[in-house]
Amino acid sequence: LIEALGGRSIVFVGLMGAGKTVIGKQVAAMLSLPFVDSDHEIEAVSRMTIPEIFEAYGEQEFRALEQRVILRVLESGPQVLSTGGGAFINENTRAAIIAQGISVWLKADLNLLMERVSRRQNRPLLKVADPRAVMADLMARRYPVYETANIIIHSRDVQKDVICAEVIEEV
Ligand code: S3P
Repeated sequence: LIEALGGRSIVFVGLMGAGKTVIGKQVAAMLSLPFVDSDHEIEAVSRMTIPEIFEAYGEQEFRALEQRVILRVLESGPQVLSTGGGAFINENTRAAIIAQGISVWLKADLNLLMERVSRRQNRPLLKVADPRAVMADLMARRYPVYETANIIIHSRDVQKDVICAEVIEEV
């Protein structure tokens, strides 16, 4: 499988709460590949949290930082990369992912996403009066783009081993 990747990374895309980090980490372990989470990497290089970056510099600056981090990871050979929900929506970032990675969209329904994101208060885009409405709007706008991923996996409330096995089967 690693040979079949031909130096490309496996890149998880999809909305907040879809399970990109949890599934990505386990798939990386199963394949003995390095794991990188783009949000985590952005926080490490900027020494700020994601909400702090949004607050201080705004979303546009965050997207520029995200793009740099993801391009750098993609350059450094086969890895498993979990991206923030907006990364694949950014045209330049998406072009790099498509050129140098195998994209896997973890598709989940609204209830599951909301249940998962409600456990942590670390998503600036959802710091609004009606986060469910914002999430539904993001679904409507982003799904046509996520749909262009190489592989689509239905992320649902089952053991993560089941999802990971499906991912490995498909890549
Ligand atoms: C975002 C998703 C977040 C993070 C930022 C913006 C988005 O990542 O990058 O808050 O635009 O959907 P997760 O998808 O890992 O929550």
